[in-house]
Amino acid sequence: MSAAQASPHPGPPPQTGKGEKEFGVYVHWPFCLSKCPYCDFNSHVRRTEIDEARYVRAFAAEIAATAERTPGRIVSTIFFGGGTPSLMQPATVAAVLDAVGRYWNVAPDAEITLEANPTSVEATRFRGYRTAGVNRVSLGVQALDDQALAELGRLHSAREALDAVGIARDVFGRYSFDLIYARPRQTPQDWSNELTRALAEAGEHLSLYQLTIEPDTPFAALHTAGKLKVPNDDISRALYDTTQEVCAAHGLPAYEISNHARPGGECRHNLVYWRAHEYAGVGPGAHGRLDLDGARHATATEKRPEAWLDRVEKEGHGLVTDDVLIREEMADEFLLMGLRLAEGIDPERYAALAGRSLDTARIATLLENGLVETTAEGRLRVSMPGFPLLDAVVADLAA
Ligand SMILES: C[S@@+](CC[C@H](N)C(=O)[O-])C[C@H]1O[C@@H](n2cnc3c(N)ncnc32)[C@H](O)[C@@H]1O
Ligand code: SF4
Repeated sequence: MSAAQASPHPGPPPQTGKGEKEFGVYVHWPFCLSKCPYCDFNSHVRRTEIDEARYVRAFAAEIAATAERTPGRIVSTIFFGGGTPSLMQPATVAAVLDAVGRYWNVAPDAEITLEANPTSVEATRFRGYRTAGVNRVSLGVQALDDQALAELGRLHSAREALDAVGIARDVFGRYSFDLIYARPRQTPQDWSNELTRALAEAGEHLSLYQLTIEPDTPFAALHTAGKLKVPNDDISRALYDTTQEVCAAHGLPAYEISNHARPGGECRHNLVYWRAHEYAGVGPGAHGRLDLDGARHATATEKRPEAWLDRVEKEGHGLVTDDVLIREEMADEFLLMGLRLAEGIDPERYAALAGRSLDTARIATLLENGLVETTAEGRLRVSMPGFPLLDAVVADLAA
């Protein structure tokens, strides 16, 4: 199937929580066993043992301080991200969840996700997370090819990754895994075969990321030196189209530019970000968006783990940024996040945030060029052919 014949645009996922505003809590665990050469997440390798009890006390203090600013919220999603949260002891995860429940109310059907690296997956540990309250796991599989995994600097084989997926399936009702595509030398046919094998192991959700060469990573240095070649724009586009076609054919269409799910299997926590709802960020380098007294605050905490600990121990929180967003910033962020979703955005919500409507002439041109579509409910969304040009579409509408 060619790009022009790409599978039908998936419909919007159901609004979770019956459409009311959701409140998410993101908890960042900043440690990994080793640093992958492509990764620029806030993740650190430590030779000495991590004092998890000290981190638990600091997480609890930061949760208490954030909850004091956001009284009455009902937590609908919690996400342990990293770094490698599956390096945390189950008792540490339980203690953090206990603190969330002590300072906020947690909805009985809250989605509680933990990111895991196949290297640190054991059935006993996973059962411990489940007992602690985790009900969804997201695994970093990255590739189903041992040579590609070695090139990505991963410490696990494809077999070990699939074994970890099997454990996740047995222990948790809901699981997802991540793959990275547009890797060196990868052809659309290779990717189609690999993705088809992955889909045979998938549950309700997959995250499929195109390899990005992040500045200041070992991959960026190799790329600049001509020692790491990634697919050119045409091949990348073909790989993207393959992703959409293969996933849609298996019943997991894209509900976001890099995320695929069976209808109803979307990650509710990530939808909180993309739908511009409210979320608290706790732990080193965590970001949050809090709606306080009619103003939207963008928060961020100290990134360096030990400096974050010191700050929380002295001040009761690790915040280094707490900015009130002006209208324009809120509206731009709403576009940037919302247009990543297949369901698109509500132009009226944009107008309420921005204090002005979207430019009708610009929308008309984008419609004419087939880059955006309007839905029967009056939403505006990026079309399937428009998705690879998402940044340009957002920049045009935000101008
Ligand atoms: C913060 S990692 C957490 C998962 C876990 N630490 C692991 O690696 O298994 C989240 C995901 O981001 C993706 N990712 C990180 N860096 C990337 C890059 N440069 N390009 C594409 N995807 C990337 C990977 O798929 C990874 O699983
Ligand atoms: S990709 Fe995952 S395991 Fe690798 S350094 Fe980044 S956060 Fe750590």
